Amino acid sequence: MKFAQLLSSSILASWAVPPSPPLSLSQPVHACKHHYVDAGSANACEKTSFTFLRQELPVRLANIMKEIDFLPDKLLGTPSLQLLHSWYAQSLMEIVDFLEKDPEDKNVLRKFTETLINVRNRHNNVVPTMAQGVIEYKEAFDVDPVTNQNVQYFLDRFYTSRISTRMLMNQHSLIFDGSTNPAHPKHIGSIDPSCDVVEVIKDAYESAKMLCDQYYLTSPEVEIQQVNSKEPSQPIHIVYVPSHLYHILFELFKNAMRATVETHESSLTLPPIKVRVSLGSEDLTIKMSDRGGGVPLRKIEQLFSYMYTTAPSPVIENARNAPLAGFGYGLPISRLYARYFQGDLQLYSMESYGTSAVIYMKALSSESVERLPVFNKSALRHYQTSIEADDWSIPSRDPKKLGKYEFSV
Ligand SMILES: Nc1ncnc2c1ncn2[C@@H]1O[C@H](COP(=O)(O)OP(=O)(O)OP(=O)(O)O)[C@@H](O)[C@H]1O
Ligand SMILES: [Mg+2]
Repeated sequence: MKFAQLLSSSILASWAVPPSPPLSLSQPVHACKHHYVDAGSANACEKTSFTFLRQELPVRLANIMKEIDFLPDKLLGTPSLQLLHSWYAQSLMEIVDFLEKDPEDKNVLRKFTETLINVRNRHNNVVPTMAQGVIEYKEAFDVDPVTNQNVQYFLDRFYTSRISTRMLMNQHSLIFDGSTNPAHPKHIGSIDPSCDVVEVIKDAYESAKMLCDQYYLTSPEVEIQQVNSKEPSQPIHIVYVPSHLYHILFELFKNAMRATVETHESSLTLPPIKVRVSLGSEDLTIKMSDRGGGVPLRKIEQLFSYMYTTAPSPVIENARNAPLAGFGYGLPISRLYARYFQGDLQLYSMESYGTSAVIYMKALSSESVERLPVFNKSALRHYQTSIEADDWSIPSRDPKKLGKYEFSV
């Protein structure tokens, strides 16, 4: 049975409407414009955020639940996906429950925050659970290229949706739990209005280095350079969610370290990982270059795929123990974090030499606007594509097919 039917299609249909306009980092993501300027009216602010979220969260959850229904039946039928769906259905109902509640009632507001924390915790293991479902499906059935493409399309949207709902829930629960974060009093929820980019790079490097040392008993050094075109003598700061940036950098460092150590196994010294940060008027760019032997161009696209991985299929428990490589989700999920605020992550490689990973972020917070999946006809079309003939010639070793190249020159 399709999941939408399980939940009651009328409930789902009433919520699977276009989301509100996406939020930006210059407008606090907890959807309360008064927060920066009017600290005194914190209660009014909490009410605004409550009325926004009790509407917006069900919309975002229902939109992605609709898309889950377009996955192949055999994938939907895996125990992992059944479990996932039960989490989504329960969370949707728990939040919808607040629709009739009175925002003036302090108890309601308190319970709402508690509910958000419960929902967030319930969804903690969504990524490995979904990954497990995909592995089960892949192992049991032959996956054709079109299905592979659809699953890739879906997972990018599914995980982006999750990043966005977690961001909203975190903002509300962090800001309205009645305490300030003693380590970071200037943070607004999870947003740092003055995020020191090089500090985050150093933190991510140290954590990855610790894992690398544990596993390989050695690790490469890092060299960081920054170029601030706006204020040349000043460190680069940006309005951003440091945990997102840290996540991306940590994944990139792990990859760069593993490649470096494994390529230079027999040498006494390791070439350092070089990181360059540059702030322009439009982009903040971070380039991380290693000399870890690189990847051929043909494989670059695959590195961002959830369905193809070079690593042997991990069982969830094992994945936690493998310090530097697990599900093969490091790159694809990092790219989603970068794209979530209109940035990007790209990989450039020189086979036999090394790789550069480039993170693009918007320099202006007003341009760091959420990028959200919307369930509509165009999305539907993606799931309904069938296998079609390629509209570019395919290189072939079959002598009968060589004819089409004979005309060149
Ligand atoms: N800097 C790099 N140099 C060489 N190969 C790389 C580099 N970065 C990534 N790769 C290749 O890309 C693959 C996918 O990387 P990704 O980070 O997505 O997954 P993973 O490292 O295998 O697992 P994990 O989920 O733990 O990150 C790696 O297994 C590795 O083969
Ligand atoms: Mg990795």
